Amino acid sequence: MTSNRLIIAIDGPSASGKSTIAKLLSKKLGYTYLDTGAMYRALAWKALKKNMELNSEEEMSQLARHSSIRFYQQEDDYRIIIDGEDVSDKIRHPQVSEAASRISSFPGVRQTLVKIQREIGAKGGLVAEGRDVCTKVFPKADFKFYLDASLAERAHRRYLELKKSGIIAFEEKVKEDIERRDRSDSQRTHSPLTRGKGSIYIDTTDLTIEEVLNLTLEKIKFREEDFFILDKD
Ligand code: DC
Repeated sequence: MTSNRLIIAIDGPSASGKSTIAKLLSKKLGYTYLDTGAMYRALAWKALKKNMELNSEEEMSQLARHSSIRFYQQEDDYRIIIDGEDVSDKIRHPQVSEAASRISSFPGVRQTLVKIQREIGAKGGLVAEGRDVCTKVFPKADFKFYLDASLAERAHRRYLELKKSGIIAFEEKVKEDIERRDRSDSQRTHSPLTRGKGSIYIDTTDLTIEEVLNLTLEKIKFREEDFFILDKD
């Protein structure tokens, strides 16, 4: 394996395909996968469970400081653990999405989570995805991508995902939720979602997962010799 292990950062709005692509890329390159959104979700899940005041910046920042958040990754299994509890299957509920978006606006919360994210990326060999990984967490990442898709397409994808995980939702309501969350994620004062300088923009609306994956790999191909490619097919 080469010692030159890169950092690849992917930002984008909800259901733009970043998780799917980040997971596939990390597998292909033999890199660690970092889902920063899952960290905000896990914290929001804990706050909801403890019936805490989500609008209190002080309480939420303290909660972040006093929580242990870690990942467990083995082959295709990506789990998120908070205070020793595996919450991976509990954090995708719309109520948690909404709460995660709300608490992610607090700089005190972000500061703690960004510190953990940078520690995870300290040795390189990372594919990270979120809202600010290109602009704030890893601004010097070797490759930065901004994935996007139309609102209707993203709503449809999220609706199918929820359905698959047994959560009943109306597509129109999913669309409204996504639109509201995107608005607040892009309009907040601290580290808003934005297409930062140097990010490669990919509109995934009419593309298959394979096409998006190939596009990203195409962009990083010229440094292929730096990678430990597990599967070149
Ligand atoms: O990517 P996701 O839908 O799982 O993220 C959930 C929320 O967390 C999202 O609405 C905003 C917040 N978030 C953030 O502020 N910064 C990140 N890097 C990732 C997510």
